[in-house]
Amino acid sequence: MMTSRVSRLSALRFRTNTPLYFNCTTCRFYNKDPQSITVRAVFQNIKEDVNMIVENDSALKSRFEVVLYLGLWATCTYRIANYLYLRYHLKILPKLLTVAAQIITGVEIHHAAKIGPGLFIDHATGVVVGETSEIGSNCILFHGSTLGATGLEHGKRHPTLGNRVFVGAGAKILGNITIGDNCRVGAGSVVLKDVPPNCTVVGVPGKIKPHGNNNTKLSNK
Ligand SMILES: CC(C)(COP(=O)(O)OP(=O)(O)OC[C@H]1O[C@@H](n2cnc3c(N)ncnc32)[C@H](O)[C@@H]1OP(=O)(O)O)[C@@H](O)C(=O)NCCC(=O)NCCS
Repeated sequence: MMTSRVSRLSALRFRTNTPLYFNCTTCRFYNKDPQSITVRAVFQNIKEDVNMIVENDSALKSRFEVVLYLGLWATCTYRIANYLYLRYHLKILPKLLTVAAQIITGVEIHHAAKIGPGLFIDHATGVVVGETSEIGSNCILFHGSTLGATGLEHGKRHPTLGNRVFVGAGAKILGNITIGDNCRVGAGSVVLKDVPPNCTVVGVPGKIKPHGNNNTKLSNK
């Protein structure tokens, strides 16, 4: 059981061959005038989400199996809610979609969060992504991970994740902090401070260790 988990983790890979158009705080999708965001662009992001699962989850036996991934259901619902919010300034319908996704999948992604293409939420349940969170392209969030605020602040109060960031199961990333490109956040860690690119952060509170720029493999095990 343990061995298969480890081998599965070792097989997880970050995609390096896709254009990285999310530059931590900006994304081509979000740089556009909201009025010019098309349904096609939304579907392109969903396609990238599917590709991210296919390329990173060795437990997947066929491409069609992705439709059974609750994480993908949550991501798709978020993308639609986010589109309705940005394009038509709707608030109630996106909120209803968010609540529906939360009831069905256990994942709560606020419709105003900014998420680049290629998000993979593995095992779905218990993931929370707050309103002012920003997530770069090709990131992985495991179950129980939280991108939250530290208290009851207003304005930008949730974390910003760069590109190809891996967040382990149960990790909590709190406050208006930035996690740089290619970082890995260990399972169960609590991160309260900025993390520079190419680092691993583990423990409570999170201790930062550089791991070089080897971003193609999640784990050396
Ligand atoms: C953070 C992580 C990616 C690091 O992997 P890695 O680069 O292979 O690092 P190592 O396993 O070599 O560990 C490096 C150090 O961090 C420590 N460490 C690793 N993960 C840790 C964690 N989650 N919490 C606390 N310390 C941790 C190790 O004990 C080691 O400490 P040392 O240098 O003092 O010996 C990995 O340990 C992890 O937590 N992955 C999450 C997996 C997950 O969520 N799985 C869910 C599957 S359902």
